[in-house]
Amino acid sequence: MTQPIVEVHLTDADLTEALRTDARSGLTASPKWLPPKWFYDARGSDLFEQITALPEYYPTRTERALLESVAGAIARTAKAEVLVELGSGSAAKTRILLNALTSEGPLKTYVPQDVSATALRASAAEVAAEFPGLAVHGVVSDFTDTLGTLPRGGRRMIAFLGGTIGNMVHDERAEFLTGIHDVLEPGEQLLLGAGLVLEPDIMVPAYDDAAGITAEFNRNVLRVLNSRLRADFDPESFRHIAHWDPDNEWIEMRLEATRDMSVTVADLGFTARFARGEQIRTEISAKFRLPGLDSELRGAGFVTEHAWTDPDDRFALVLAARV
Ligand code: SAH
Ligand code: AVI
Repeated sequence: MTQPIVEVHLTDADLTEALRTDARSGLTASPKWLPPKWFYDARGSDLFEQITALPEYYPTRTERALLESVAGAIARTAKAEVLVELGSGSAAKTRILLNALTSEGPLKTYVPQDVSATALRASAAEVAAEFPGLAVHGVVSDFTDTLGTLPRGGRRMIAFLGGTIGNMVHDERAEFLTGIHDVLEPGEQLLLGAGLVLEPDIMVPAYDDAAGITAEFNRNVLRVLNSRLRADFDPESFRHIAHWDPDNEWIEMRLEATRDMSVTVADLGFTARFARGEQIRTEISAKFRLPGLDSELRGAGFVTEHAWTDPDDRFALVLAARV
């Protein structure tokens, strides 16, 4: 087995600095907000993996089954020599794609990329052990601002799975997809996984499970603030909320203060005050319709080559080529 390379473009100090900026703006805003990337320290990445196995959380198993049925077709048309995966996490489902791309195509290199160094190092080592002929070149970075640092050379496919595209609002998605377009050469491809709009009684429980794992995942952002910025949040004093917004067609996760309280963020030298019932928005998870996805991709300079959905139309995998 060739040992994986892991390039770090986001050090621990960079992360703390970025969190300082986000916490200062998000916690002094009205209403308060925090970006979802801060869920994913080692504990948060582990909680996310637990979420993917929950009976209510259909996206992961639906995307996995879809990948199983279409990975061969993707591999036969793609001819990718390099697979770059943004927000790769545990890369559990990626193995299906890697199997197809190595056995039915010329894939030589896998580039997992994630903000979570622990998740990335673990998955890079596992993939390198499972695919001894594959060079694994991991990158720790923020996919919103470091696409230009991804390794180059060889025909590439960029995979962005799991529906993580839905954790961005429309303008962020446009900027992000255009950024991907700009690092690709004409003809290179993007494989995008996206959750589709469903009945709220299917979507909401996926974000508010009976075992309370998603609630813990949501509260984890407060623990990250406590450990990185010496804040004194009491996570148990915040109630997890998952709300379907029919106008924006997204699930909104929030944390609601269950009492009046003051929270000091020692490293920022400020105190945030919460009234009972006040909420922090911690994540949106937008759901899509195929025509909307196609038009967002076209707007960023891609042409949809194929869109697959599962039999219940819960999840889509879209293969698009950079024009
Ligand atoms: N792709 C995997 C994991 C999805 S969870 C799957 O389909 O199951 C979202 C992943 O994106 C996490 O691993 C998280 O650490 C990563 N992530 C979130 N925001 C990020 C950002 N701004 N830059 C890089 N990675 C990010
Ligand atoms: C990573 N992302 C696509 C997940 C989602 O479904 O939006 C994160 C998540 N949030 C709550 N549960 C899972």
